[in-house]
Order: sequence, then structure tokens, then C-alpha cells
Amino acid sequence: TRTQVGIVGAGPAGLLLAQLLHRQGIDTVVLERQDEAYVRARVRAGVLEPGTVRALKAVGAGDRMLREGLVHGGFELRFGGRGHRIAMDELTGESITVYGQQEVVADLIDARRAAGETVEFEATVTEVTGTDTATPVIHYRRGGETGEAAEIHELHCDFVAGCDGFHGVCRPPQSRSYERDYPFAWLGILAAVPPSSDELIYARHDRGFAMHSMRSPSVSRFYLQVAPDTDLAEWPDERIWKELRIRLSTDDGWQLTEGEVTEKSVTGMRSFVSDTMRHGRLLLAGDAAHIVPPTGAKGLNLAVSDAQLLGESLISWYADGDEGPLAAYSDTCLRRVWRAQDFSSWMTGLLHRREGAEFEQRAQLAQLAYICRSTAASTMLAENYVGATGM
Ligand code: FAD
Ligand code: DHB
Repeated sequence: TRTQVGIVGAGPAGLLLAQLLHRQGIDTVVLERQDEAYVRARVRAGVLEPGTVRALKAVGAGDRMLREGLVHGGFELRFGGRGHRIAMDELTGESITVYGQQEVVADLIDARRAAGETVEFEATVTEVTGTDTATPVIHYRRGGETGEAAEIHELHCDFVAGCDGFHGVCRPPQSRSYERDYPFAWLGILAAVPPSSDELIYARHDRGFAMHSMRSPSVSRFYLQVAPDTDLAEWPDERIWKELRIRLSTDDGWQLTEGEVTEKSVTGMRSFVSDTMRHGRLLLAGDAAHIVPPTGAKGLNLAVSDAQLLGESLISWYADGDEGPLAAYSDTCLRRVWRAQDFSSWMTGLLHRREGAEFEQRAQLAQLAYICRSTAASTMLAENYVGATGM
């Protein structure tokens, strides 16, 4: 079979790209390894920058987000037993929208179907070849990971969009990259309890980072800094609630509402950037090209901004034969990616506990106090958080 743009991966990057291209009459095929139920249920990020909200609206996938998303004009930094509000809206004129990534993905799948198109679920890409020719080929197997009928299909394309996440197959393994590892991970839970705060809380505590987020008026999301090799079996619900109670506690009697834990997982943390996001007719977008630690909530937002830029570049190529935006795609994306990398690793360092690093822990507290006191410093944090960095 043949298509114009073959898209590997039905995450936010691949699905948004498909929608952008379809609206300009460009033919796409989306191949996704997992089944649909899995993709719709996969709990991940939850903070949308204003630019991400605009991008989803622009492709007709924003209605439910506008109805159900929670618009927040600020968030809280909590340390030393006290909370301090960072008023993003006053400092930058912008707000964030709290809306689960799985809902974004579900809305994009529904929008694609409403446009009369499909997503090929349980189609595992094994290899992409001919990326330095005008007709690259995607090789894939039906039946997902363990498809017993191991027949390999070929999809011939003008371009391949590698939107297959960090563990995908599109990024050439020998390509150059820049990396940083962190000696901790996040244990995340979803709980069927109303949020105990109107806004997100990022807490720095001597026992480690904790965060309170949410998904709706009746569903809360929490994260705890844990060791990278953490076994979930060692974290029964009661231990999680106890640790959250301690790390989120304040001197003014703030109460945490506890309840049923409905999802639990551990996510490692790393920074990773590919040297280039283009290899001939193969273009990478999202986690396939770069990973950030989750502290600044940038992963999903970068995937969306990559997809937008890639969509615009391909549309220029098809509409006017203009090669320029495609030639600039990687450099343009990477400028924003590096800004987000710096911010995410800075915010991670600001809030996490490193074993034995007493000097850093005292410096953290001094920096946090300064951020809360200084308009310049809090504006720096707020601008980066909402993505208003001019990148
Ligand atoms: P993905 O969403 O990873 O989508 C890639 C898709 O490609 C997947 O559906 C995958 O199944 C598919 N795929 C992979 N290989 C193949 C193949 N060979 N063939 C076909 N399909 C393939 N960010 C935050 O900001 N906050 C968080 O709390 C947070 N939590 C996270 C938790 C986890 C477990 C992970 C993995 C990431 C988390 N992130 C978080 C990061 C954020 O979710 C990602 O940055 C975002 O999903 C990137 O979108 P994407 O479309 O590039 O990739
Ligand atoms: C969420 C995730 C993040 O990484 C973050 O910084 C804030 C919120 C969330 O899942 O809600």
C-alpha cells in the first residue's frame, strides 16, 4: 500500500499531525502498536500550555477539553511548611489547562474518525527503510507485539513521521544524542477523591519531592519522588497516603483528602535530546526525539509543538513545493526543545532531594524563597511553565 505521510505512533504527536495533514487534504496512515483500549486508558501527563490548547482547538479536537478542562491561573510552591502561590496569569497573562493526556488522545482519535479516517491499531512497525530516497518504506506487523501471523506489510510513503515515543524504532540507534540521568523516579497515582487544593502543588520536602495534581472535581493525581529501582509491591496504598501526608503537610492545618487508589505506576526520569530530528525523508516528533524529566510538565507540550511545526512544514512542501520549512524543521524544534530541557532539569533540581547533597538542599531553600519574593524570579518560572519564552 501507499500513502503520502506514514505516521508511526498514535500518541499526541502522531494523532495531532494526522489531523493537521488530513485537514489540508494530505493522505496519511497512522500505525499504532497497542490496541485502542490500551491507548485510551494510558495515564500520563495532565498540564496543557495555552499553545497546546490552541493547537487542539485549531484541528477541531478541543470541544470536550474546553468543557471539562480545568483552567488554572496559578500553582503553589510548598516548602518549609508553607505554600506560596505563583500567579501565572498576573505574571504572564496566560493560564494552563489541566486535562489528562489520555483524554487528549481519545479526543484526537474521535476527531480522526469523525473525519472519516482510521487509526491502524495493533500494527507494530519493525523497521523504516529508504529514508534517504524519495520513497521510504515502513515495515510493520499486524496483531501488535505478539501477532502470531508474522506477515510483514509494507507501506510506501513520501515521508515517514516517527512519532513512536522514546522506545520506538524510528530514531536511528546510531544517531548522536545528549543525555542526563537522575537518581530518582516518580511514583504516580490516580485516586477517586476530590482534589484537596484548587490548584497544583509542587512540594519540596526533606524526605523528597511530592506533587498534588488533579484530573476533575472528583479525581486527584499525586506523585512522589522515589528511588529509580522502586518496586510497587513495597508501596501499598496506606504507605503512599502516609508519605503524601508528610511531604505535603503545612503548619496551618491543611488537610489531604484520601481515598481509593485507581492507578499506580513508577516512571523513570531522564533528559535526552537527539542531535537531529530529520534523517532524509524520516522526521521525528515528540518523545521519539527527546525526553524531559516530568517536573516542568513539558513532555506532552513539546510533542504537540513538534507536530504542529512538522504539519506546517509538510503542508508547505505539498502546497507550494517549498522545501524551506522542512529544511529548518529540526533546528526550529530543537531551539524550543533545549529551552524546555533547561527548564525541566532546573525545576527538577529545585524540588528533588539528592542523597547526601546538603549544600544543594540549603541552596534549594534559598532559591525557593527568592522565587517567592522576587517578581523577576517568579516571572522567569511562570513564563517557562506556560511556555511563553518566545521560542
Ligand atoms: P507517546 O505518547 O509515547 O506515543 C508514542 C506512540 O507510539 C505510543 O502510542 C506507542 O504505543 C507507539 N509506538 C511505539 N513503538 C511503536 C512501534 N514500533 N510501532 C507502532 N507504534 C509504536 N509528561 C509529563 O509532562 N508529565 C507526566 O506526568 C508524564 N508522565 C509520563 C508517564 C509515562 C509512563 C511516560 C512514558 C511518559 C510520561 N510523560 C509525562 C511524558 C509525556 O507523556 C510524553 O512526553 C508524551 O506522551 C509524548 O507524546 P508522543 O506522542 O511523542 O509519544
Ligand atoms: C502532572 C504531571 C506533571 O509532570 C506535572 O509537572 C504536573 C502535573 C499531572 O499528571 O497532572
